[in-house]
Amino acid sequence: MVGGCGHVGLPLAIAFADAGLTVIALDINPTGVDLVNNSKLPFLEVGAQEKLESVISNGKLHASTSRELVSTAEFVVVVIGTPVDEFLKPDPEAIIAAFEELKSHLVSGQTIILRSTVYPGVSKRIEDWLERNNLSLHLAFCPERIAEGKAMTELYSLPQIIGTREIESRHRAAFLFSSLGDKFVYVTPEEAELAKLFTNVWRYIKFAAVNQFYMMANDFGVDFEQVRNAITFEYPRADDMPAAGFAAGPCLFKDTMQLSAFSHNGFALGHAAMLVNEGLPGYVVGRIESQYPLKELTVGILGMAFKPEVDDPRSSLSYNLRKQLLFKAKKVLISDPFVRDDRLIPADELIKESDIIVIGTPHEQYKKMVIDKPTFDIWNMNKNGVLF
Ligand SMILES: NC(=O)c1ccc[n+]([C@@H]2O[C@H](COP(=O)([O-])OP(=O)(O)OC[C@H]3O[C@@H](n4cnc5c(N)ncnc54)[C@H](O)[C@@H]3O)[C@@H](O)[C@H]2O)c1
Repeated sequence: MVGGCGHVGLPLAIAFADAGLTVIALDINPTGVDLVNNSKLPFLEVGAQEKLESVISNGKLHASTSRELVSTAEFVVVVIGTPVDEFLKPDPEAIIAAFEELKSHLVSGQTIILRSTVYPGVSKRIEDWLERNNLSLHLAFCPERIAEGKAMTELYSLPQIIGTREIESRHRAAFLFSSLGDKFVYVTPEEAELAKLFTNVWRYIKFAAVNQFYMMANDFGVDFEQVRNAITFEYPRADDMPAAGFAAGPCLFKDTMQLSAFSHNGFALGHAAMLVNEGLPGYVVGRIESQYPLKELTVGILGMAFKPEVDDPRSSLSYNLRKQLLFKAKKVLISDPFVRDDRLIPADELIKESDIIVIGTPHEQYKKMVIDKPTFDIWNMNKNGVLF
């Protein structure tokens, strides 16, 4: 498992090892490797800790930084990060560069499972690269579709998309994933690449639609959640309407940008979604400013993770909000029960010290917390808070 100590690689490595396969979690991050070998998860993932302890103690999982170990594997699963760069563009060389590092350790007959979310056409680039390097390997693009925090259930329940060009690769990929489940969708690599990107971008656009509705309703003095309840109550056609809130994290935004780059920056809907979702922290600041003398006040942000019940702050809009507030407020305080950041303070202290509170992440524990300060609660989750 290349990238085997990451947010996606490690749960999969644990699940395969727990199913009885012998797994090596190969990673360039020595800290992650040490943690895993000491049975410690480098991040929160519900249900993974117990299984990690079990598969480390029975020897089924071992983490390492040694690329040579790749030559011992029957399957090589590649699940490294694929972030967009400072121009919001995917790096066309990132995956190929990882393969270059592995080149001398790849062995003919192995099966490569590409699992990172990739720019359309990357599977073909790898096929061409293998051919150029006279490597006769099987290749399948099998995207990961779990949501962080739900990996240890969704790895077993979600159908696995298997994108291959030829039947032997398909059989091999299905054989590997049959250790976790029995539902497969067979497509070409290109269909699988688009399926993964469209899945994430579809979700991002849905969030943008409700966030735009939220801002409209809010500006009109109407509680959007009441409107959403009215729409969705026993009305199946609107069942999938999400609640408003910060839509962020390491995947949705960057995959929308990947698709935008793919469509020659002509992806109007994707860019509109980005403007709405990324614009929400600015909207919050504007609303506070319109009602309070912000520069004289301390604002506290409850929740800095990109979504509830995880410790992952990557691309979190709470940090975006913090930055904007630093320009405008007297002081900005932040709190989160899971994220590791030296600037965080306990929630009760934050509430005491702040004049205004913003709930940045709807962690479960904030639902019942008594917040006796004006509270900006996009999520409409804290019935004890004073809303505005
Ligand atoms: N995070 C999610 O919820 C999620 C869900 C589905 C798909 N994905 C996709 O999965 C991929 C991985 O995402 P992630 O969140 O796990 O990222 P991550 O940064 O948490 O993990 C990537 C891991 O790969 C390691 N790595 C990077 N380059 C390497 C190399 N050359 N050799 C060995 N190890 C290397 C890193 O050290 C890191 O541990 C991305 O393409 C992402 O879009 C993520």
